Amino acid sequence: MTSTETESYGRQVVVITGCSAGGIGHALARAFAAEDCLVVASARSVSSMADLDDENTFFLQELDVRSEESVQHALSNVLERFGRIDILVNNAGVQCVGPVAEVPLSAVQTTFDTNLYGPMRLIQAVVPHMVSRRKGKIVNVGSVTALAPGPWSGVYTASKAALHSLTDSLRLELRPFGIDVITVVPGAIRSNIGNSGMATYNQMPEWKLYKPFEAAMRERIFLSQRPNATPSEVFAKKTVAAVLKKNPPRWFSYGPFSTLLSIMYHLPLFIRDFVFRKLMKC
Ligand SMILES: NC(=O)c1ccc[n+]([C@@H]2O[C@H](COP(=O)([O-])OP(=O)(O)OC[C@H]3O[C@@H](n4cnc5c(N)ncnc54)[C@H](OP(=O)(O)O)[C@@H]3O)[C@@H](O)[C@H]2O)c1
Repeated sequence: MTSTETESYGRQVVVITGCSAGGIGHALARAFAAEDCLVVASARSVSSMADLDDENTFFLQELDVRSEESVQHALSNVLERFGRIDILVNNAGVQCVGPVAEVPLSAVQTTFDTNLYGPMRLIQAVVPHMVSRRKGKIVNVGSVTALAPGPWSGVYTASKAALHSLTDSLRLELRPFGIDVITVVPGAIRSNIGNSGMATYNQMPEWKLYKPFEAAMRERIFLSQRPNATPSEVFAKKTVAAVLKKNPPRWFSYGPFSTLLSIMYHLPLFIRDFVFRKLMKC
């Protein structure tokens, strides 16, 4: 990107994590760019978002949310380039499917390190900057699954539930400083989440007690990738419209399962368990 801080005046600088092609982050990058934002698209590897290599719109950064050093390096590049960050979108995330009683703790740690501590690393890095300007928006991408945790994805769901909870506290704590905090809650959105989830699942040890549930677990990995999944471009356009509002919503949810799981959130646990046992074969 050739823009300097002066040239970028008036355009919002948006930093997004996890922008590999085919995923929600990539679609968000394009949707923010369509609204004339200066988009810092980041990913673990710049080659995974090579098609965003348009210097007038995107500033590509290598950023691994699990590495403090990587976060600091990428954000200081952004501040050097534009002098500000208006919007941070914590989108990067990984699935983790397997029975809670047997998932290796190393996989639990990786999931939380990416889905919870990753956003925290970015938040703690950008908040002092946003507070100094008394302005900014922080968007944390959660999941509808955290509204009614079912079987086989307990670790992923717990990491997202923790992120929802943390976002609620953060929203109140940052209000005095003029910073908006938004929980974006995707339903079933077309992306690479199934394929990357399967790659992670294939690294899991052989289950001891849960062999008979193997097929149900493999099905769970692709639950969000059925034919009725919302295209990520559609989800991104609606999300960006909500985030760019002068008074953005505290909670924005869209996509298949978002209504169903909101209802399940309110159901007595015995009904919720009954529904899950029928649907998820446990
Ligand atoms: N798709 C859905 O139905 C759905 C539903 C609910 C919530 N979500 C959430 O939406 C967000 C985006 O997911 P998605 O569906 O777009 O899945 P995706 O296509 O698999 O994209 C996930 C992105 O996160 C990146 N990532 C993973 N670990 C990272 C790390 N350590 N540092 C930086 N980036 C990392 C991936 O990069 P690599 O390419 O390098 O792996 C990829 O760019 C996630 O937080 C996910 O939990 C998705």
